[in-house]
Amino acid sequence: MGKHCGVNRLCFLGTVLALASVATIVTLWTIALTGGGDDVTAPWDSYRLPSALFPLHYNITLWPQLDTSTNTYLFTGSSSVLFQCEVETDLILIHVNKLNLTTLDGSHMARLSAAAGDFVPDILSCWLQTNTQYLVVHLSNKLKPGHSYQLYTEFRGELADDLAGFYRSEYIEDGVRKIVAISQMHPTHARKTFPCFDEPAMKAVFHITLLHTPGSVALSNGLEKDVLNITVDGVNVTQTVFEPTEKMSSYLLAFVVSDYTPLQTTHGDTLMRVWARTKAIEQGQGAYALNVSGPILDFLQLYYNISYPLKKADQVAVPDFYFGAMENWGLVMYRETKLLYDPMSSSNGNKETTVAIIAHELAHMWFGNLVTLRWWNEVWLNEGFASYVSYLGADHAEPTWNIKDLIFLNDIQGVLEVDSLSSSHPLSSEEDSIVLPEQILAQFDIISYSKGAAVLRMLSDFLSESVFVEGLRGYLTHFSYSNTVGTDLWEHLQMVVENNSVSLPQSVGVIMNPWVLQEGYPLVTIDTIQGKVSQRRFILNPEEQVTSRLPRRAEWAVPLRWMKDGEAQTEIWWLMEKEDVNLDMRSRASWVLANVNMSGFYRVNYDFGNWERLLTQLNTDHQIIPLINRAQLIDDLFNLARAQVVPTPLALRASTYLQQEKGYIPWRSALNNLQYLYLMLDRTEAYPLLQDYLRKLITPLYIHYNNTTDNWRQTPEQHMDQYNQVNVLHAACRASLSDCVSLTSDWFRRWMDNPENNTILPNLRPAVYCSAVSAGGNAEWEFTLDQFTRSTVSSERSHLLSALSCSSDAGLLHRLLSFTLSSSVLRWQDGATVIASVAENRHGNNVSWTFIREHWEHIHTHYGSSIISEVTERFSTPDELQQLKDFVEQVGLESSSAVEQVLERTRANIRWLQHNKEPILHWLQQNQETVLH
Ligand SMILES: *[C@@H]1O[C@H](CO)[C@@H](O)[C@H](O)[C@H]1NC(C)=O
Ligand SMILES: *[C@@H]1O[C@H](CO)[C@@H](O)[C@H](O)[C@H]1NC(C)=O
Ligand SMILES: *[C@@H]1O[C@H](CO)[C@@H](O)[C@H](O)[C@H]1NC(C)=O
Ligand SMILES: *[C@@H]1O[C@H](CO)[C@@H](O)[C@H](O)[C@H]1NC(C)=O
Ligand SMILES: *[C@@H]1O[C@H](CO)[C@@H](O)[C@H](O)[C@H]1NC(C)=O
Ligand SMILES: *[C@@H]1O[C@H](CO)[C@@H](O)[C@H](O)[C@H]1NC(C)=O
Ligand SMILES: [Zn+2]
Repeated sequence: MGKHCGVNRLCFLGTVLALASVATIVTLWTIALTGGGDDVTAPWDSYRLPSALFPLHYNITLWPQLDTSTNTYLFTGSSSVLFQCEVETDLILIHVNKLNLTTLDGSHMARLSAAAGDFVPDILSCWLQTNTQYLVVHLSNKLKPGHSYQLYTEFRGELADDLAGFYRSEYIEDGVRKIVAISQMHPTHARKTFPCFDEPAMKAVFHITLLHTPGSVALSNGLEKDVLNITVDGVNVTQTVFEPTEKMSSYLLAFVVSDYTPLQTTHGDTLMRVWARTKAIEQGQGAYALNVSGPILDFLQLYYNISYPLKKADQVAVPDFYFGAMENWGLVMYRETKLLYDPMSSSNGNKETTVAIIAHELAHMWFGNLVTLRWWNEVWLNEGFASYVSYLGADHAEPTWNIKDLIFLNDIQGVLEVDSLSSSHPLSSEEDSIVLPEQILAQFDIISYSKGAAVLRMLSDFLSESVFVEGLRGYLTHFSYSNTVGTDLWEHLQMVVENNSVSLPQSVGVIMNPWVLQEGYPLVTIDTIQGKVSQRRFILNPEEQVTSRLPRRAEWAVPLRWMKDGEAQTEIWWLMEKEDVNLDMRSRASWVLANVNMSGFYRVNYDFGNWERLLTQLNTDHQIIPLINRAQLIDDLFNLARAQVVPTPLALRASTYLQQEKGYIPWRSALNNLQYLYLMLDRTEAYPLLQDYLRKLITPLYIHYNNTTDNWRQTPEQHMDQYNQVNVLHAACRASLSDCVSLTSDWFRRWMDNPENNTILPNLRPAVYCSAVSAGGNAEWEFTLDQFTRSTVSSERSHLLSALSCSSDAGLLHRLLSFTLSSSVLRWQDGATVIASVAENRHGNNVSWTFIREHWEHIHTHYGSSIISEVTERFSTPDELQQLKDFVEQVGLESSSAVEQVLERTRANIRWLQHNKEPILHWLQQNQETVLH
């Protein structure tokens, strides 16, 4: 699945389980047990399927019926599943959720048959166990091991707009409302579409037939085989029969019925199609996706050394989609904004999103689809792997972008922060701790995706890419069309390690265990005076370090790539113990730098002398230090300062070298870190000093872009420079660099004078809109609002909406907030983001806090109580803490764990401010003149 899942979208209404018929069922079971032991848990009370029956193939016919005139949206279907009995049983448990099953032959909701001549037991009773989502079929006699049987059902379901199972999504084209019937089975919604053994290890072959309105197009995992116009129950329909799927998990099944148009090409033997709204295809918005998909597929076939097993690769842009994308085998679905790229208005960031997400989803066609993890407790391996390989695939499609370096910003930097909280969790969980559908869904978080990617990148680095790939190929070949556990991959890597005599301090499995089975990561401390190297868990909040509620943990096996005075050491040095000595790291005159290219998932601290030498190097010739490590030094120092491991002024001193820095990655890293200082200090007397400091840091880069892009009229050639151009414009305007403010305001004014002709470069729009609204008044704000209501391009709308929250006028911010009280201007799904963005604006902090308290009942109903966390992010005074306490008590939320975290964060901020405000003020004053010229 694509990362950046719909975490911020309030689109998924939790599964409400109807418990109505449980009482009768329990009675039945007691009868069946003929009064057996009271402590017996019935098999249908377990959320996991028993391992008695295994599906071989399904034969499914579905008919979505969409009647816009009567607003009736449902589907009917029939399914028969051929399954094999492995263990004698008189119970068939098969998943069903929210389907109405038809009573067949006037007796039961299912019919059982077997191969000719085989004995078939009678059905005694048949019921829906709604809490665990089963159809339970109780038989008169036992099914026999080694025999196979067929279970037939007919059913009806709703094509709801709930983004789950077989559902509907709407859009308007030429004033006409159009409806797409589409599916999202992953992770547990196939059972909402047809009765199935809905667990990843229950692989089977699916024979699919779809009935649909003549004129519409039906797609599924297999290629369309027969398309016929027929009459069913007096209705003219088109019947599309698909080629059977490969043997695969139910969560990978997919359907689309739409009026979409394809853009297509044949790549090798593979038919590749991009499907979207006809208008979008006509405007060429699918071209970029199609152009990069071929090269990515080529790369992956070579990388895995297994050819793409299907005849076709369809990719579909969906108006409403729960996740960013979903890797259904042969029929990948994407949110529209992720797949489509409009050269006229999309930014280079949009383009990168498209190429990266395609590479991620196509990477799953092998890792995930061909070979599948047995259970959802190891989601991290599937998602972390696809996230890691997406950089390699995207790099192949866009070789000039240096996209692999962006893993530092897109994955590593963010998850290092999350994983340094005491509330973090391990990559992998116990299999039996992940059983409920909501527990399964909760696995798809930043830890699985980003830490997973970082840890696999580290593994590939210390094994070498060639050993990693060889082991991976062995694993994929060996387990094709079946299921695995994570240790199977370690074993295949270990075989290659042994065949190639790769030197490792331990087996692959032993090295990986501490990274996978326990939360957090190490802070490695290097003392270059004595050559002492040690590790401990890095925790961001120093108070929680001492309250040690944390369990005892294993030491990490830490691979150290390091350099001395710019010279990289060829050998990795392993830190296996809590403390060890490396005499080569002793150094008095030259600097030591560890974790070269951030290839390991850890932070590094040094003795004071080494930090001094590193800072001197940064300030004299920073290019000797690799690009990613310049970003790392800043990120490590600012985080070590927050954890009170080093003084904040040391981090600030390191940041002064940025006056010479032109690289995007170090700059972005620094701005991300300065954001915390802004949050804490931008309502204090330190604010103007902080602004002066940032302005002086950024001015040389501003002039550089001014010079090299013809006063901002051109887009730089390099991808990273394009990012940095936006970056510097945003930061310079934010730091009130007058040239920047007047430039952006002028551009915006010109657009206001001629609304039909927006000449602002697409990349720069978010920065320009925000700056112009911030510096402007009523007129700019009203114009932005007007453009927002008119625009039909979704990326443009989101830029305009976020610009509205940049205003410096409390009255206008209040007006914006009032839009969140109804759905007349905003969609409900945007409300929470608007409130959070207003709170992020220093002029909006009080406005939003007052607003949510005044309208709490309403806010709470629509946006949930987690909004409190967004609105109080910069709370850092005892008075604010008191207000927060009073409020949560008043609304009865004081015991919620989310609120507990917010209170904890506020107390941590208060302490941080007490420790740091004076030293920072002092440093900023001292350095105002001297450091910066
Ligand atoms: C699937 O079912 C249809 C009708 O029920 C039947 O005509 C077809 O032969 C079946 N296909 C398979 C592969 O069993
Ligand atoms: C399923 O049955 C319930 C209860 O009879 C009914 O309310 C619902 O409309 C039915 N759903 C469909 C799609 O037929
Ligand atoms: C089925 O009917 C539709 C609409 O009437 C028509 O466009 C299509 O060509 C027909 N398909 C076949 C296979 O006859
Ligand atoms: C179904 O199609 C036939 C022939 O194509 C046509 O004569 C008939 O009117 C259609 N029936 C309906 C209900 O549209
Ligand atoms: C920008 O251009 C001006 C004049 O062409 C030149 O004097 C200045 O050194 C340049 N600055 C940078 C940072 O390239
Ligand atoms: C940017 O360049 C323009 C001319 O190209 C010049 O007039 C302006 O002064 C420059 N701005 C800065 C901050 O150097
Ligand atoms: Zn994925």
